[in-house]
Amino acid sequence: MATDLPPGMVLLDFIRYQQHLVGTKIGCREGDCGACTILTGELNNDELQYHTVTSCLMPIGNAAGKHIVTIEGINHKEGLNPIQQAMADAGATQCGFCTPGFVMSLAGFCLDDKPATKENAIASIDGNICRCTGYKSIEKAAVDIVEKLKDKKEAIPFVTEQKILPEYFSGIKERLQRLRESINADTLKDVAGIKETPHFVGGGTDLYVQKHDEMKDATIRFLLHQPELNGIAKEDNKCIIGPSATVSDLLHSAIIHEAFPDFHRYAKLVSSTPIRNMATIAGNFINASPIGDFTIFFLALDAQISLTPNPSPGERGKRTLPLRKLYKGYKQLDKTPEEHIDKIWFELPGKNTLFHFEKVSKRTHLDIASVNSAIHLKMNGDVIDDAGISAGGVGPVPLYLQKTSEFLKGKKISEEIIHETIKTAQTEISPISDARGSKEYKRLLLRQLIKAHFLKLFPGILAESVLG
Ligand SMILES: Cc1cc2nc3c(=O)[nH]c(=O)nc-3n(C[C@H](O)[C@H](O)[C@H](O)COP(=O)(O)OP(=O)(O)OC[C@H]3O[C@@H](n4cnc5c(N)ncnc54)[C@H](O)[C@@H]3O)c2cc1C
Ligand code: FES
Ligand code: FES
Repeated sequence: MATDLPPGMVLLDFIRYQQHLVGTKIGCREGDCGACTILTGELNNDELQYHTVTSCLMPIGNAAGKHIVTIEGINHKEGLNPIQQAMADAGATQCGFCTPGFVMSLAGFCLDDKPATKENAIASIDGNICRCTGYKSIEKAAVDIVEKLKDKKEAIPFVTEQKILPEYFSGIKERLQRLRESINADTLKDVAGIKETPHFVGGGTDLYVQKHDEMKDATIRFLLHQPELNGIAKEDNKCIIGPSATVSDLLHSAIIHEAFPDFHRYAKLVSSTPIRNMATIAGNFINASPIGDFTIFFLALDAQISLTPNPSPGERGKRTLPLRKLYKGYKQLDKTPEEHIDKIWFELPGKNTLFHFEKVSKRTHLDIASVNSAIHLKMNGDVIDDAGISAGGVGPVPLYLQKTSEFLKGKKISEEIIHETIKTAQTEISPISDARGSKEYKRLLLRQLIKAHFLKLFPGILAESVLG
């Protein structure tokens, strides 16, 4: 299907108002409720992969070349499919408003190659909110679906043969391959009309919450699917990340997993499955939220970025910048409107390197941080050779704690040093009171998070009493 509607229009409006497919519901329009959840299928190294996304935050420009599946697209010709049937059998729907979103998330789970476990089934609905049915019955439906997938090996052949999803899914890979030949990255650039300074859009999960109305007719350069802006690679001792890599891309990267064995746990504290499927790392940096989780994560690693002007004149005008120097003041960046991030890199942790990230929020899931912090220590025995520590929610910008990082270098780990570290950190922050807590509370949180870093990284050396 082709359209000449503005590429900045959100998919949700296209689906409901242009295609009249009203099974997809409109709830919050901010990515929070999951009522608008749909599936996107795309070829990744010639492998067809499906992801859940919130269509309220996805511009149609980001749908180019993908299989877009709404709730109508997973219906069988007759009767309910097994996912819908499981929801009905478990009494997992009352008013029904949230139900299409839950069903689509569970369809995404069926199409995923991850093991079909109860934990993964429940994790797949972490972006869906139901206001009137108890979650227990929805969980029961999810468990019933796990049972139906127990012999699953390859997802797409299995779900079509078992008639969980319609037969046509088995022909999508070939259709997308044909489509790929007729559409390339340049098509998207042309569609976006890049002659004037464009809005850069990654996943849209920040922009479409902040500037929903403005984006529809904006001049946009879509960055999500530019091959040169994607991928996660290892070069010598560096990890190179394409700015358009999503949080889910990081979650699935063997390089990231090897470097940060706890990455899975950290990423699960960030937003929800559909948002992680869309949210890019560069979008997190440029959004410049003082509590951006991946900004805090990469600040502690002293990550570097490369900026290039648009339109790109090759290497001319390109410059590199430590991420910590990007932030000049609240939402003020050392970046011109024409520049975009084209590369992110950091030194991979060696065998003597320790890393830890912590986030405190009002709710564990689908909530932004009150305060977050990360630490990165290069050890020489019990002496710190090099250190980087960052903190969010305690100043107008995401902070690299320069003085505290310097203080730690050359120090031997002890309770006294930790207390001194906390004291130094307190001199570098300037939290304000807001909906996420008073300034005193945020100071206290950072103090506790620094203790938590050291307790986690040096459990043998430090006593629990440090937490006191
Ligand atoms: C429901 C919900 C929950 C969320 N939870 C969290 C959370 O827990 N933690 C958290 O940190 N964030 C959270 N976010 C915020 C958001 O998802 C992240 O900041 C995300 O990483 C933004 O990436 P994006 O690609 O969607 O950005 P976009 O919206 O596409 O862009 C954001 C900004 O970055 C710019 N931009 C994007 N790519 C580039 C580039 N390569 N070069 C230059 N500029 C660029 C855009 O022009 C725009 O100014 C949440 C958002 C939602 C909707
Ligand atoms: S309408 Fe609530 S997540 Fe899209
Ligand atoms: S069934 Fe009513 S909101 Fe979920």
